[in-house]
Amino acid sequence: MQDFAGRVAVITGGASGVGFGQAQVFGDLGCRVTIVDMREEALQAAAETLRARGIDVHPLQLDVRDRVAWERAADDIEARWGAAPSLLFNTAGVNGFGPLEEASYADFDWIMGVNFGGVVNGIVTLLPRMLAGGTDGHIVSVASMGGFQGSPSAAIYAASKAAVINLMESYALTLPAQGIGVSVLCPASVRSDIAHTLDRRPAELASGSSFITDERFIELQRRLYAGGMDPVELAEHVREAIVADRFWVLPFTETRDGLRAHFDSILAAYDDCVTDPDAAAERARTFDEYRAQSARLRDS
Ligand code: NAI
Repeated sequence: MQDFAGRVAVITGGASGVGFGQAQVFGDLGCRVTIVDMREEALQAAAETLRARGIDVHPLQLDVRDRVAWERAADDIEARWGAAPSLLFNTAGVNGFGPLEEASYADFDWIMGVNFGGVVNGIVTLLPRMLAGGTDGHIVSVASMGGFQGSPSAAIYAASKAAVINLMESYALTLPAQGIGVSVLCPASVRSDIAHTLDRRPAELASGSSFITDERFIELQRRLYAGGMDPVELAEHVREAIVADRFWVLPFTETRDGLRAHFDSILAAYDDCVTDPDAAAERARTFDEYRAQSARLRDS
């Protein structure tokens, strides 16, 4: 995708941080931007700032976990712009740090519900409309470098982001043939409001949490993220990836060595296994045959 002017862009988590950076960058390029967020006041403040920049913006309050509300939102978006979206940014996300052995169902339901469920809901609701819209499009989901490996203190978050990475890899295998590009963004540390993420936790999932609420810890996190990448700079990397039709958006080069060491440790596990090479070759042949036959079935 090379042209952005006039396109309808939907950005979840658009009231703050990474999503707000995306709203500025793609709004400045002439997109008509719907920012989606659960926080009404923050939404209105963000919309005001965007309007002052000359951006055509539509703030829309929505909890990304709510599928019924998503369907209504999709109608609102099309009514507001008179067109289906052709850009979808699944950016809303939450985090919690705490001992995994004390994690509650509510901890899992909240983090997985927003970080993974929100991505699923956004795509399942809007993708049919994007496809029916008749133009090319692009979907970007925000995962995290944390999605590449387990974490002792942010385990649920890491699992949710691993799921986002994997799901987007699958969409990238199918959607480009239908005119929809796919990218996954994996940030490391971004200047945002995510240190205050626990404030977004809904009351019905608030009991029995394992997440650390100690003010000193929150302050430590606030300082960590204050030293992160500027969200506008990050959104520029996303723009470049869309223009180049690139799947992986990994602009945090300081994480490269750690990622390589992690993948090397996975590959090293092969060296520990002694297996029959003929049996392995036979299994691989059977698999290739299965793939070829199922592709023929699909196309018939
Ligand atoms: P942020 O807290 O500044 O922005 C997230 C926005 O999502 C907030 O405005 C919040 O109200 C909204 N949100 C939360 N739950 C929601 C829900 N259920 N429905 C609708 N909106 C909801 O945080 P940030 O950093 O901008 O986060 C954006 C994305 O970037 C998240 O997916 C996060 O996991 C990811 N990320 C951020 C990193 C960082 O260092 N800040 C690092 C890696 C990934």
